[in-house]
Amino acid sequence: MTRALIIDTDPSPDDAVTFLTALAAPELFELLAVTTVAGNVPLDLTTKNALKALELAGRTDIPVYAGASAPLVRPLITAEYVHGHTGFDGYDLPDPVAKPAAGFAPEAIVEMVMSRPKGTVTICALAPLTNIALAMAREPRLAEHLAEIVIMGGALSEGGNVTPAAEFNIYVDPEAAARVFTSGANLTLIPLDCTHQARTTAARLERLRAKGTKLAEVFYHLLSFNKRFDEQKYGWDGGPLHDPTTLVWLMHPEFFPNGRRVNVTVETGSPDTLGMTIIDWWSVTGKPANALVLRDIDAEGYMTTIIDRLGRL
Ligand code: RIB
Ligand code: CA
Repeated sequence: MTRALIIDTDPSPDDAVTFLTALAAPELFELLAVTTVAGNVPLDLTTKNALKALELAGRTDIPVYAGASAPLVRPLITAEYVHGHTGFDGYDLPDPVAKPAAGFAPEAIVEMVMSRPKGTVTICALAPLTNIALAMAREPRLAEHLAEIVIMGGALSEGGNVTPAAEFNIYVDPEAAARVFTSGANLTLIPLDCTHQARTTAARLERLRAKGTKLAEVFYHLLSFNKRFDEQKYGWDGGPLHDPTTLVWLMHPEFFPNGRRVNVTVETGSPDTLGMTIIDWWSVTGKPANALVLRDIDAEGYMTTIIDRLGRL
């Protein structure tokens, strides 16, 4: 029985690795659609990058729905300083031939989820949560109808990667995140504390390149460019491969031990801590748990899974 999946994303390379890995695991996933949102780069570029990656994999059958071009209430903040002007710097892929599917991503999400039996569709949310919040506003039953939303975002004790307090996906649209975390949906959150442990080291990128396929070569270069910022900032060998953790959690939950169901809230007021995820890891607030938070990861098992799967495309 395959899991029906929607991937909401703002492609930079780690986003694209997520939906490509899903396509390389057809025995596990039916990828219903890729939905794009403004985030790492503006919407026209995140949408173009999604189309480029699917074209590279020969999977233009997967619909790409474009969504929100800005957060719910704040101006868009992008991250070209990490991902380059295009969001896909490092390898010059041709402009896509395929076009986005007709329709607004939040509406498409509602239609895909509500037209299937309750508890059968999962969303991997790899970007600011604007599309998800809009879909929930459009269809109040969405949260309870979904099987699960697996979110890459936030930080427990790692600190933020945009401000000292906030991680990028949450920081760009904190109101959307607050909406999702209070929705009652079945949520799994994978914060920086987890993703920072799983890095694209030089050795791992060489293992990817050694797969010898065109796609492996392209992502060798895209990921090699993409890791520079974090290597310079943190002094690491490699950069965190953030977003595919959401998918590999669904494939190999054993790679993510010691998760806890706890209360998570999102700061939407204070200018200094805007977008902070307040994760009650020790349950001191007495607030009800609203998310499973994953902090530990078998980084080698995770990266080997990614490399092996990408090598099949
Ligand atoms: O903070 C990490 C997140 O921001 C990831 O989703 C990465 O793709 C960037 O969007
Ligand atoms: Ca992302």
